[in-house]
Amino acid sequence: MQGFPGVFVLRFRGYAREKQFLKKKIIIYICAVFNIKDMAKKISTIGVLTSGGDAPGMNAAIRAVTRASIFNGWKVMGIYRGYEGLINDEIEELTTQSVSSTIQRGGTILKTARSKDFMTPEGRQKAYDNMQKHGIDALIVIGGNGSLAGAQVFAQEFDVPCIGLPGTIDNDLYGTDSTIGYDTALNTIVDCVDKIRDTATSHNRIFFIEVMGRDAGFLAQNSAIAAGAEAAIIPEDSTDIDQLEQFISRGFRKSKNSSIVIVAEKDGGAMHYAERVRKEYPQYDVRVSILGHLQRGGSPSAFDRILASRLGAASIEALKEGQRNVMVGVANDEIVYVPFSRAIKKNKPIDKELINVLNVLSI
Ligand code: F6P
Repeated sequence: MQGFPGVFVLRFRGYAREKQFLKKKIIIYICAVFNIKDMAKKISTIGVLTSGGDAPGMNAAIRAVTRASIFNGWKVMGIYRGYEGLINDEIEELTTQSVSSTIQRGGTILKTARSKDFMTPEGRQKAYDNMQKHGIDALIVIGGNGSLAGAQVFAQEFDVPCIGLPGTIDNDLYGTDSTIGYDTALNTIVDCVDKIRDTATSHNRIFFIEVMGRDAGFLAQNSAIAAGAEAAIIPEDSTDIDQLEQFISRGFRKSKNSSIVIVAEKDGGAMHYAERVRKEYPQYDVRVSILGHLQRGGSPSAFDRILASRLGAASIEALKEGQRNVMVGVANDEIVYVPFSRAIKKNKPIDKELINVLNVLSI
């Protein structure tokens, strides 16, 4: 697991326990002095939504949020179609039974959307009004970069406690080692690449296989290593070198008659590189395979189910501790709270050492 040196980690075991103990004492003292009831008791109803691209494990996260919340004596309102449903009042109560038999299901039972209206102040006002209408005191947002950015703005505008859970196959949220859905998508890709390799070998072809990840190369780089591909072309490396030239110049044909190159979807993706090879190296037989949305589907892996369950339960703990406007993640196997502003910066570092591993092992 990779560490996150600059991350604003608010809780570590041991140190955290001491800190928490101290915090509790301070709260009790303040409450005694000002006769305020336990601050956590202010929350009695929470809302949960999934937003942006769906990811395997979102259901496991919804289930964990729902059950941990009910266990804690809070009511849970499920908000359908992400922020769209909050604006249009598509909200209903979730019970423990509502989330029965969902941990193994891909997609999201709450549906999802990319809401344009939530980007407007009018849209967010409607969303807030509906929260008030249903007595929702805090919001749990399960989603990727755009979804957590939305939560950050909303929380600032209306002083609503929001907790984010990293739900995206892209793994591009800073401060968490893995996002919910990433492991499953990675395994799906590896499965596909294994199959494509059979036909690539039979025909002596170069295959450019395009994978998702938007601006991040985690899926491309790590699926390339796991599937034994000859190269990965990732956005994080695009400014440094001509990655295609590098791949060709490594003399890949000396020992192999076929090759697999995994390409992250950015800048024309696999098509772009296949076209270049057709023009610059017409002696090679080239094909393209774009894996597309099949990468987002399917039953979540055990890893994603556990991650989602852990993070979902931790989101309720976070609210109980009085946390707000943070993403709950896992770093070095510890639960961490990462302020939204850090999590969504799009600067999660990719381990470039792994590119060397790929290059060395693909000779
Ligand atoms: O953010 C998740 C993601 O799957 C990206 O990898 C991809 O670029 C994008 O969503 C595709 O979104 P849509 O389903 O809206 O086409």
